[in-house]
Formats: sequence, structure tokens, C-alpha cells
Amino acid sequence: MPQDDVFPVPPGFAAHAHVDGAEYDRLYGQSLDDNDGFWREQAAFLDWTRPFTQVSDTNFAADDLRISWFADGTLNASVNCIDRHLPAKADQLAILWQGDAPGERRTVTWGELADKVNRLANVLKGLGVAKGDVVTIYLPVIPEAIVAMMACVRLGAVHSVVFSGFSAEALANRIEDAGAKVLITADEGHRGGRVVPLKRNADVALAGQPSVAHVVVVRRSGAQVPFTAERDLWYDEAVATAEAYCPPVEVGAEDPLFILYTSGSTGKPKGLVHSTGGYLVHAGTSWRVIFDWHEGDVFWCTADVGWVTAHTYKIYGPLLNGATSVMFEGVPTWPDSSRWWSIIEDYRVNIFYTAPTALRSLMREGEGPVAKHDLSSLRVLGSVGEPINPEAWRWYHSVIGGGRCPIVDTYWQTETGAVLLVPIPGAVANKPGMAAKPYFGIRPEVVDAEGNTLEGEASGNMCFRGSWPGQARTILHDHARFVQTYFAPYPGRFFTGDGVMRDADGYYRITGRVDDVINVSGHRLGTVELESAISSHPAVAESAVVGYPHDLKGQGVFAYVTLKDGIAESEELRKEVVDWVRARIGPIASPDVIQWAPALPKNRAGKILRRILTKVAANDFQNFGDTSTVADPAVVDDIVSRRQDTLAKEQA
Ligand code: PRX
Repeated sequence: MPQDDVFPVPPGFAAHAHVDGAEYDRLYGQSLDDNDGFWREQAAFLDWTRPFTQVSDTNFAADDLRISWFADGTLNASVNCIDRHLPAKADQLAILWQGDAPGERRTVTWGELADKVNRLANVLKGLGVAKGDVVTIYLPVIPEAIVAMMACVRLGAVHSVVFSGFSAEALANRIEDAGAKVLITADEGHRGGRVVPLKRNADVALAGQPSVAHVVVVRRSGAQVPFTAERDLWYDEAVATAEAYCPPVEVGAEDPLFILYTSGSTGKPKGLVHSTGGYLVHAGTSWRVIFDWHEGDVFWCTADVGWVTAHTYKIYGPLLNGATSVMFEGVPTWPDSSRWWSIIEDYRVNIFYTAPTALRSLMREGEGPVAKHDLSSLRVLGSVGEPINPEAWRWYHSVIGGGRCPIVDTYWQTETGAVLLVPIPGAVANKPGMAAKPYFGIRPEVVDAEGNTLEGEASGNMCFRGSWPGQARTILHDHARFVQTYFAPYPGRFFTGDGVMRDADGYYRITGRVDDVINVSGHRLGTVELESAISSHPAVAESAVVGYPHDLKGQGVFAYVTLKDGIAESEELRKEVVDWVRARIGPIASPDVIQWAPALPKNRAGKILRRILTKVAANDFQNFGDTSTVADPAVVDDIVSRRQDTLAKEQA
């Protein structure tokens, strides 16, 4: 790679950073030589009720997988996130919130946050929520989402946050799998000037769900919504009469903190289970270092509360460190595409963390919307969720960061809990599009298809050896799937499902998923999950979904759909299928392209040949490889000619 593709740590940055280059080398080496010793020191960052004596206890044999950190320690997450900042920070701001509509603003001090959390915890306790119970949270990006999460963990209960853009059916599946006892939602959410009917969705989702005894409803819009007496209660009324203090419940380090669902390569979303002690250690200590946060900085992570990015680096990371953060309910392009930049100017944001897909769409609007605002407060920029293409990286660096801010391209997953690869900003020079170097204690390996670990410059499968405290412990109700998915493919190592390239300088570039998962706008969607949704439409006989390169979304959803005998192809039906998927999963899963396919290419055993479908979706009509296995070659010709016809029409 030519030298001009390296962006050194900006002059002067390292001197004030938590970690500089020499410190990174020293500490990284030490963290591998004495992994337990390193994490033992890191764990001192938390306030433990009973200190742990044992650090890690791990075993990676597939028949006896064990991941355990700080196991005999006890603590409470809300005490670490809130109580310990009091009374010192009682009057300082914890949350700076802006609603979807520009004029709508709220602030929450640490003292107010503590009060809200204690009261809601008492409400939940009154509803029978106790240690180990699951509470599902289906809320917009409003301060009450944080309050709800903290109220759960104060009781030792386990939160399961479901993205408010998910449909009633997706919510129902997640409530049912978790056996949630209480649901916390809002009357309505607001996004980009549109209303999201959360309570109505919740009511649909709850029909036939025996586990949920109560629904706590936050009054967000004030709209009239259906209300079921006995079962439902208004949040504001309940907290007003609740006791102001709720004693925190002591839990073990290995007790679950939260469940978060993500898509995998089967139709059923996986509920990843995270531990309390290990997760908080990894989240809190890494957040401070990778964003180089200092007391007084204003931090803003744009992720929705429904994703792991928000769990770790919008909520737990800042709260554990007592940091002030911005929370924004809306979208970057409404009412116009300068919205984010106006928020950065308003709150003098110092550290800004977002996803490449949003940057790509804002980049399209040119520099005009950016130039209207003073972004000089920015010091560190972050990226997450998908590979950032070098063009978007350069725009982010020069136009948003004014050429002076390092970009922390953080690579991690719902499963990993917190960061694994990242250019720590005072320590590691940037290369556009590269998540660069391992975080402390993390051992990346590039592995070939046979499971050999490759050295030096190499491309292969992204694996990690050993464990780290933030790692998920299991999939709820399906430990066998956990072992099978992550630890069986390459024994002794955790397999991420991603491809990776390592360059001569030991920098890592994630090249995207290598399994049946596609990454659409930074959101993970399982192709099988999409296919089950499409194939459940009464007119559909069969479908196959693949990802294809999409300028804005990174990957788009391309669906090949075979209709039942006698059903005619039509534009109306195409739209109906799209709406059907939106209703089953949510708008993020909308197919971008539906191509009717009278038949799908299969081998003689009936297996769909996805390799060919992926190539056609990417407009690559050659090099299908060995097609001798295709049972009926005419099917491939038909698929190709239909795609070419569509392209010809689009160009005409
Ligand atoms: O494919 C990788 C991509 O997002 C996947 C994880 O998705 P999720 O569990 O939803 O968590 C997203 C936020 C942590 C990964 O398997 N991914 C995440 N971060 C990056 C990335 N790909 C490239 N570069 C990144 N920085």
C-alpha cells in the first residue's frame, strides 16, 4: 500500500491520549503474556461488592465449552453505571437529548437519572420482576430506554432490547423466546417525521403471549392508544407514586446482564447472552481508551438502542465512565441532511461514532450541509457496523473531521460484546478502511478453509484465539448452536463469520461476511430468515435471498422468488411481497430487488446453488465455476437473461 494511504496519529494527539504508540506496544505485549494479569488490573475499574479471586476459567473443547470471568466476584451494574458517580456528579449532565423534531430537547442530570432508575426499578419490583427475570424493552431512542435498562439491572433482571423498527411479529418472536415477564414500550415513536405505532405493534405482538403479565407504557407522543386495564400501566403515573430508592441487587459476575437478538444463518434469531462482570469490564475500559475520552468531553454514538453498538458504546461505556452523552431520536436526513451536523455544533460534540452507511448517504449531499455548521469541537471520529469504504473514510476524515481527527474503525460483533480490532487513536496510524490492530488481550488469527492459521500477509477467515471478558456466554436456550456456530468450525478458536485480509504491517481489513448473513446498512440479516419470511407469502412457492453490492447500504437484499403454479408475475405482487417482509421482520429487511424465477438453480441433490445467484445479483454473468452440478442448466440461462433484461430496461 503506498505511504500516502497512511494517516499518522495527528501531531500533538498522542501526548494527551490515554495510550500512545509505545504504551500500546508495551501493554499489548503484556496483555498476551499475562492475559489474566492484564484483565485483573482492568477489572479494578469496577466497584465490586465482593471482589473476585479468580480471573478467567475457559475451555474451548467443543464438548465442554466453558467461558467464565471473575466468577466469584459480585456486583450490581446500575451501581457501577450511576450510584458511584454520585453525589459528585449529581448536577452534571448525563444525557443531552434531541427528539425527532428539531425544537424538542431534554437534559437529564446524573441525579435525575438515579431518581428515575430507582423509581422505575421499584415499579418493576412491584410487578413481580426479580433477579434473573427477563424484561423486553421496545422503545424509541429516548432517555427512558436507558432508564429502563438500568432499572432492570438494578434488580438483577435481564433486559432484552428489541429495535423499535422491528415489526410486531419480530417483537413477538423475541418476547416468546426470552419468556419476558414485562414489556416496556411507548405510545408511539417518531422517526424522520413519521410515527411508529409502538403500542399498537406491542398489542399485536402480545396476543397469545402468556409470559408477559404487564406492559409499562411511556407517554412519548401523547397519542390515544389502546390500553388494556389490569395489564397496562402508564410509566409516568407509576413512577410518580413509586418509592425514590430501590436497593441494588447483588449479582454474580457470571449472572446474565442482557440478551440481545441477532440474525444468524438459520431462520431463527439468536438471543446472545452477556455476563455482568466480564461485559462491564470490557465495555467500560475499552470505551474510555478507544475513544480517548477525557473528563468533560461530550460523546455521541448515533446507534439505535436496539443494537449492540448502543448497548456497549452508547449506554454502558459512557455510563460506567460518568460521561455526558448525546442521544438523538431521529434520522440524519430529516428535516434536512444537515441535522447531525447541527447537533454536533449545538452540543459541542467532541467524539462522534457512527456507521458507514449513513456517511455514504450524507456524502451524496455534498459539503453544503456540513459547511453550514461549526464542527471544530470534534476530536475523535468512530466507525462501526460494516467495512467503511476508503472513499467514505476520506470524506469523513477531511470534511467532517477537518483532517485533524483520527478515525477509530471499531470491529466487533453482538457476540464479542465489545471491541476486538481498532486503531487506538493516540497509538495506531490510520489506514482508510482498516480496523487495523487488535485491542489489548485479543489474539486475531487469519485461518484458511482447512483451519490452518496463516502468518504474515494473508487473506482468510477472521478468528480469535482464547477468550476475552466481554464475549457472549451462550445463545439463550440453545447452547449447542452457540458451540456449533462459533467454536466448531475452527477448533480452539472463535469464528466470527467474517472474511479478513492482513497486510504486511499487520493491519487487518474486514472484507465482509462469509456465511449466510448479509450486512444491510450495518444491520445483520440472515438470508434464511428473509427466505422464510418471503416463502410464507401465500403466492410464493420458494425463494432464495443473496446480498449484492449496494452503493449506500453496503449490501442490498436480492430475492429470487418462484411463484406457485398458476400465479401471474405482476408489479402489484412484487410490492405485496416487499410489504409482507416488512410486516414479518421490519422495514430494514425490505428486499431491494425481487426477480421472479420460474425455477431456482439446484444441484441434483436439490441444494440451491447460491454461488451462481450471488454472481448474477452482482451483474457478473461469467465465471460461474463448475456448472456441471446444475441439475437443469436452462434454469441458469433464464435467471441470467431475466437479470440482463432488467438492467437493459433500467439503462434505457
Ligand atoms: O460483518 C461484521 C460487521 O458487522 C458484523 C457484526 O454485526 P453486529 O453483531 O450487528 O454488530 C455490529 C456492531 C458491532 C460483523 O460480523 N462489522 C462490524 N464492525 C465492523 C464490521 N465490518 C467491518 N468493519 C467494522 N468496523
